[in-house]
Amino acid sequence: MPSIAVLPGDGIGHEVLAEGLRVLAAVAPDLTYEHFDLGAERYLRDGTTMPDDVLERFRSEFDCVYLGALGDPRVPSNVHAKDILLGSRFKLDLYINFRPIRLLDARYCPLKDKRPEDVDFVVFRENTEGLYTGIGGQFKRGTPDEIAIEQEINTRKGVERIIRAAFEWAAANGKTKLCMSDKANAMRHGHDLWQRAFKEVAAESPGITTSHLYVDVLTMRMVQAPESFEVIVTNNLFGDIVTDLGAALQGGIGLASSGNINPGVAALFEPVHGSAPDIAGKGIANPLAAILTAGMMLAHLGRAKDERRIQNAVQACLLEGLVTRELGGTLTTRDAGTAVLDALR
Ligand SMILES: NC(=O)c1ccc[n+]([C@@H]2O[C@H](COP(=O)([O-])OP(=O)(O)OC[C@H]3O[C@@H](n4cnc5c(N)ncnc54)[C@H](O)[C@@H]3O)[C@@H](O)[C@H]2O)c1
Repeated sequence: MPSIAVLPGDGIGHEVLAEGLRVLAAVAPDLTYEHFDLGAERYLRDGTTMPDDVLERFRSEFDCVYLGALGDPRVPSNVHAKDILLGSRFKLDLYINFRPIRLLDARYCPLKDKRPEDVDFVVFRENTEGLYTGIGGQFKRGTPDEIAIEQEINTRKGVERIIRAAFEWAAANGKTKLCMSDKANAMRHGHDLWQRAFKEVAAESPGITTSHLYVDVLTMRMVQAPESFEVIVTNNLFGDIVTDLGAALQGGIGLASSGNINPGVAALFEPVHGSAPDIAGKGIANPLAAILTAGMMLAHLGRAKDERRIQNAVQACLLEGLVTRELGGTLTTRDAGTAVLDALR
């Protein structure tokens, strides 16, 4: 019986996760849950952000973590969010950031004449290295002679394992096109490592057609011809940027879901959007990203059919306009969740 750690977090995280959990209860009634009181409220109450023993429990006792969103204007330092999100990412070594980019309804695509089948690819973003490790420093801060250094970390192990994960996923999911993106023409040391690792792993996967694009060309191509992609693998910084571009192509952050995965160890699934303090508590947040995220979690648990059921139900709601305000509908968060449940039936 798979067990899920639930962290609603802050703001609309509570509202959208409630709908995701209702859908999960309908599709996968055998899952078990434990709710964790972590987030801004808890931090403001007793200073707790992310206890080490909770991280250890995520690793040893749960199959997945289902997270809402983190961020609260009352905690301007965002320390709790950093500890919970980055703490999980780094301490559980969740090195794969898995971001499906799938257009479910052509009306929500900002590109003209693109059909759902034209926007259907996944991005494997390296999640633990690159420019996001915080390694660097400042010298003569605040003076005219100030120097600020941000180091990009690329380890052989880190680069190879994310590339390998992308190839393995492609092979397991019937995909035949895989594109690696870097900036090796300008970043000659770290990205040369990406080039070499990519060629070596590609040589082991003859059934997959590989390509390489510098990231500036990749962004153009994603807009001009998203249909040319099936699987993209890239580093932490570029992945951060191109997955948001991908989210725009699929209809915005209200529909974008993500997984942070260390295969066989731990996995954390979350909608891409934040805690949206501007609409929190109003009952108007779009729960579809959280619901699609729940589907991803089921696929991770080996239940790809259940994920497809959820995707089909969400797609039916989109096509019928049974959506929240920011997608042009009139439904509340709760009613949008109910619409998905009705479509499932
Ligand atoms: N992974 C995360 O937990 C995560 C991601 C991004 C931002 N944040 C945090 O969230 C807080 C707010 O950040 P932000 O405003 O930059 O980003 P945000 O994603 O919370 O909101 C951006 C805009 O999109 C809207 N929006 C977001 N999700 C929506 C949904 N499901 N339905 C309808 N509208 C939605 C919001 O109302 C807002 O206008 C900050 O504290 C930030 O640090 C957290």
